[in-house]
Amino acid sequence: MIDIFDKLVTDLGPLGKHSHVTEDYFMFPKLEGEIAPRMQFQGREVLTWSLNNYLGLANHPEVRKADADAAAEFGLAYPMGARMMSGNSVHHIALEKQLAEFISKEEVMLLNFGYQGVVSIIDAVVDRRDVIVYDAESHACILDGVRLHMGKRFVYPHNNLDNLEKQLQRATKICNETGGGILVITEGVFGMSGNQGDLKGVLSLKDKYNFRLFVDDAHGFGTMGATGAGTGEEQGVQDGIDLYFSTFAKSMASIGAFVGGDKAIIHYLRYNTRSQIFAKSLPMPLVLGALKRLELLKTKPELKDNLWKVVNSLQSQLIEAGFNIGTTKSPVTPVLFKGGIGEAANMAMDIRENYNIFCSLVIYPVVPKDVIMLRLIPTAAHTLDDVDETMKVFKAVKLKLDSGEYQKEEIIAVTK
Ligand SMILES: Cc1ncc(COP(=O)(O)O)c(C=O)c1O
Repeated sequence: MIDIFDKLVTDLGPLGKHSHVTEDYFMFPKLEGEIAPRMQFQGREVLTWSLNNYLGLANHPEVRKADADAAAEFGLAYPMGARMMSGNSVHHIALEKQLAEFISKEEVMLLNFGYQGVVSIIDAVVDRRDVIVYDAESHACILDGVRLHMGKRFVYPHNNLDNLEKQLQRATKICNETGGGILVITEGVFGMSGNQGDLKGVLSLKDKYNFRLFVDDAHGFGTMGATGAGTGEEQGVQDGIDLYFSTFAKSMASIGAFVGGDKAIIHYLRYNTRSQIFAKSLPMPLVLGALKRLELLKTKPELKDNLWKVVNSLQSQLIEAGFNIGTTKSPVTPVLFKGGIGEAANMAMDIRENYNIFCSLVIYPVVPKDVIMLRLIPTAAHTLDDVDETMKVFKAVKLKLDSGEYQKEEIIAVTK
């Protein structure tokens, strides 16, 4: 027998095992100053491409004022208690109503956090007789929700509709025996690849199979569709999504989340989503702040237009210059290279240290072992000059990568 903690200090896990050299730099870096394309990193100004502040709302003066006014009036405590017990308010209800209207669903329920919310909604919807069928590239919160499930779960390769159909056939067979039902889960925009979930394709299978569709649109809300109502709107299938989820942590530049659907289903979720029933409700600055953000999202289409100007310029220039940006069909812009972890770290360090550009480095196990991903998140606050500056750097860095300049055995320790 071991001390249960022994393994925690000997095996830090796939990301933690690099912590001795990466902490403070690649992991847990501190970006300081106002949230904007130019921020401070280790005392220097860097051009940042790693914040999910898609619409540039984080520092919008009206947003800052709404947050501050709400904090001054209510503090962070009000309302106290879980929503169901003593934590409700007219503002929570107003926000839900406005969100429901915006995403064209009958009703919406607020969630304190996206991650916990998704886990808990999955838990609330399924029981052991049911079968979950989910996309293989789903976010960790979906995977954790699936893990909680006591019944069968089948995964299909990312966006592979032929395989999804096979899984639906298996699931149907099981449900016919157990008397359960099928929940299909996918994402609107996949946050690493930027690829859109093929919602239209998935929904076309409803003609043949009996299932309900739950879509996590964390990266699509505010960025996709004519009005910014998300990937369902973008693909013209919002009506077919049975449960539409998004978070306030990306386009809304805040904390909190929501799920929308038919009135009766949301009513059920209010009484059965354990992460909400057994947790304090969203504090008022987050609720009033979200109302202001939603108002801006709806009334200032120029925010989304600016975002897409930057996205289109960045992605087209990257492609033109011969970079591999994968299959993105959203603002998320992965730049993929072949190489090992040491090479990746050396390249990303060069970009930060010598060119003052801050973007996220994504390594195995998030991407395959021999792939380096630099993930760029354009926002409405970036300019086309920012794109041009970045392109110059990426072109210079690619030459170095191709000539093997970054191939050093060890990651250079940069921690102070
Ligand atoms: C696809 C997806 N779902 C859910 C979440 C979790 O949202 P939150 O940050 O509100 O917990 C994220 C955010 O990281 C996400 O990218």
